[in-house]
Amino acid sequence: MKGDVYMSSIFRKKSVAELTSGATPLKRTLRTMDLTFLGIGAIIGTGIFVLTGKGALTAGPALSLSFLIAAICCGFAGLCYAEFASIAPVAGSAYTYSYVAFGEVIAFIIGWDLILEYALGAATVSVGWSGYFVNLLDNIGIHIPTVLTAAAGTTPGVTTVFNLPAFLIVIVITWIISIGINSTKRVNDTMVILKLAVIVLFIVCTVWYIKPHNWVPFSPYGWFSTHAGAKAGIIPAASIVFFAFIGFDSVASSAEETINPSKTLPRGILISLLISTVLYIIMTLIMTGVVKYTIFTKYLNAPILAVLASTGQTWLSIIVSIGAILGMTTVILVQLYGQSRITYSMSRDGLFPKFFGEVHEKYQTPFKGTWFFGIITAVAGGFINLNILSELVNIGTLTAFILVSAGVLWMRKSQPDLHRGFRAPGVPVTPIIAIIFCLVLIAGLNWETWIRFIVWFAIGMVLYFTYGRKHSLMN
Ligand code: ALA
Repeated sequence: MKGDVYMSSIFRKKSVAELTSGATPLKRTLRTMDLTFLGIGAIIGTGIFVLTGKGALTAGPALSLSFLIAAICCGFAGLCYAEFASIAPVAGSAYTYSYVAFGEVIAFIIGWDLILEYALGAATVSVGWSGYFVNLLDNIGIHIPTVLTAAAGTTPGVTTVFNLPAFLIVIVITWIISIGINSTKRVNDTMVILKLAVIVLFIVCTVWYIKPHNWVPFSPYGWFSTHAGAKAGIIPAASIVFFAFIGFDSVASSAEETINPSKTLPRGILISLLISTVLYIIMTLIMTGVVKYTIFTKYLNAPILAVLASTGQTWLSIIVSIGAILGMTTVILVQLYGQSRITYSMSRDGLFPKFFGEVHEKYQTPFKGTWFFGIITAVAGGFINLNILSELVNIGTLTAFILVSAGVLWMRKSQPDLHRGFRAPGVPVTPIIAIIFCLVLIAGLNWETWIRFIVWFAIGMVLYFTYGRKHSLMN
């Protein structure tokens, strides 16, 4: 009996009515075009500008197929996200939706995963940002002491200790978010246009230098194998570059501010995914066509620059570096913003201490929570290797995608009559395919990443059972 009460307490749910009644009436101004810009602002960043180096070493020229696989996974998961978002068009993303579908403990798990996605995601991108920034400064004759350009042990044969630029960019953006600078949409739009322009410029200037023999062999490691003691092939590379698509879910979080969300949300999600996928595939074909993929061993921080160096267009590498830096800045901004809003929602529900939900009187932002996680993110970016960070982010996000897709299946079964502004086509096949793809991508990650994720998960569970369950507003 006691056990039953306990189980019903950890699986207590919010109703859709409860959710939407608590929602603050924000002004609905965003259209499909705005959402697409928001999506691209959040999506294109370190994945294409940095992780393609490691990806190419893992899959060879077949890296373009890895991008396609990761994109298909995100497309199916994106449809599920959109359906979930249209049931409960309120802020808080997957965390909030799962409170309705599954109840509290699963919502907590997703919220905890999203913290991993956003906070460590921002840390990962800050490391990518730093690589291009250091290169750009070098190009114009300013030299940062090498020990301060990367975390310890990241570059073989070079002594590095701390990634100062990565640390500083996170601190600056935390400050911007914490004081509630709200011109973000215009800034984001400008940065997105610059980012796209730089990518198109890169494509137009380098496509002529492709030597088709660089594409042979196209897939040196097949679908899934091992090479030099690590997983290699198209699938493990897809598990790495999955990172390049993370961020489209932030579109779903703006449901409350969207005009006609049931149509605009799924469109915004899918169009921004489609545009990024096309650009990624073209770019990776060019990168592995202009140079032999093995050359990226020497250019892991800024693989695009390897391509430009080989075509002799050094002038272009300055422009591309600036574009990459601006592009990655918007990604960090969106992720740190998402992070602060997730912990704010969780604290408002009582699952996290009040500290994270306290709104600053003057700035009207969750000031303390923003700084708390901002500092942790900055330190992570300063001390941890990019590959460790990005893989951890991927596994956390893939887990959240699995739960969201399962949520769609579960809600269709348990509450078939509920109003859904958008119905994902092809249910139950769509969420099932999404889940299978996510599991395959998780299988492609290193076992060290699985262990790190289990530790993260365990810490979350301790927090929930010692704090969240007792302080939940649902009590
Ligand atoms: N998708 C984002 C990036 O690649 C997180 O930087």
